[in-house]
Amino acid sequence: MKTLCIANEKGGVGKTLLATQIALYIYKKCGLRVLFIDLDQQANATKILQGTNPYFTTHTLQFTASELFARTLDIQQALLKDCSNREAGLTLVAADPNLAELERASANNLITLKQNFTQALAALYPHFDLCILDTNPSPDIRANLGLLFCTHLLSPIEFARESIDGIVNLLERINGVAIRNPHLRHGFLGLLPNKVDTTSIQKLYFEQLIKKVGRLFLKGKADLPILEGSGQGAARLKRDEQGVPLLEPKDFFCLLKDHAAFREAQGFSLPIWCVSGVQQAWSEFKRLAFTVYERLDFPSRLDAYTKAGQGAAAFSVTTEKDATSEQALIRRALQNSPQLGATLQQLYSKAAYLMLRQFLLSDNPAVLPGISPAQIQDLRVLRTQLALRDFVTLVTDPAKFSVMTEKLGCAA
Ligand SMILES: Nc1ncnc2c1ncn2[C@@H]1O[C@H](COP(=O)(O)OP(=O)(O)OP(=O)(O)O)[C@@H](O)[C@H]1O
Ligand SMILES: [Mg+2]
Repeated sequence: MKTLCIANEKGGVGKTLLATQIALYIYKKCGLRVLFIDLDQQANATKILQGTNPYFTTHTLQFTASELFARTLDIQQALLKDCSNREAGLTLVAADPNLAELERASANNLITLKQNFTQALAALYPHFDLCILDTNPSPDIRANLGLLFCTHLLSPIEFARESIDGIVNLLERINGVAIRNPHLRHGFLGLLPNKVDTTSIQKLYFEQLIKKVGRLFLKGKADLPILEGSGQGAARLKRDEQGVPLLEPKDFFCLLKDHAAFREAQGFSLPIWCVSGVQQAWSEFKRLAFTVYERLDFPSRLDAYTKAGQGAAAFSVTTEKDATSEQALIRRALQNSPQLGATLQQLYSKAAYLMLRQFLLSDNPAVLPGISPAQIQDLRVLRTQLALRDFVTLVTDPAKFSVMTEKLGCAA
């Protein structure tokens, strides 16, 4: 199990927003088993995830977060009791008022608390793909254990003077813990600017920080097609001698602007993509969440599928040098599919998989030049309805793929 900790000792910077929305994204869009542990006695995340809505259900475990630190908790027993009504999906260890006691934990208690928490997490490990820890703002044992046990860490920041000062403390603390948590050397995903606006003071802070700690910001990667000959006519794809469009990797900074949609999503217990009229907020969030998902580096679903012995033969992969197994499969599916597949194949050839994937990530039609606006719109609608996992299944199954292309009105 991977463990993602969202931490910054500054209050109100968006830890809970990120923790809850990333949990929903990875559970709903990527189809993984997510455990959410709310370590903050304010219980903001607990209220959001337990809120009533038609888009997701949360299974709340019978023990609470403070009990993870108690010697008396037998996780195996507790889970066993819970199994009967536990669904795959989002599982919550809810915050409770006793968490506040941990702020005052005395030094000679710390080792026991740490041991209990370690054992509890270890017992939960086999049941989930990802555990997300939402931490409290004060740097007490909870936040420190989060830093100590996570495999990945994300730290939202705001471009305000007091937050900038807080970044120094945060980085010092991460550095201190990183010595004892070897995962953090690669698992520190980075600083994520949140609630960004276009005021000149924010721009100034942004420039200062980029100069000082720019390499610590969370960055995503996009493989974008190279365009040429824009002059009078439309821009054309630059291709190699075999006619394959050339792509170049471009880094982009992840950030979230200040959008009322985020407050609305949190207030109404909604995944951000279910709030209406939030194209911009969803677009920014999707880039961020997809980048986090990629950096978490889950074992390939196809590996898992093949290991489970389902259709191993069908999943034998071509040997092209640049191909991952998913690329090869999607390419093959595109070859077998009706017109949309043919169009994509014709336009992008070997790069079709990367470009489709890029479109999923970025929602940027510029990465699919040559595809009509109507088709882009259809792909958009389709994408919002699909989990990533389903998308892979869909394009690797010719029968389902033709259903999709029919739906898109481009069947042969
Ligand atoms: N990008 C954003 N745009 C608009 N509102 C935001 C954004 N990010 C967070 N918020 C809002 O700011 C408020 C504080 O965010 P949140 O509760 O996630 O911060 P926090 O770091 O968890 O706070 P605490 O330290 O108290 O736990 C919430 O109302 C949240 O909806
Ligand atoms: Mg919070």
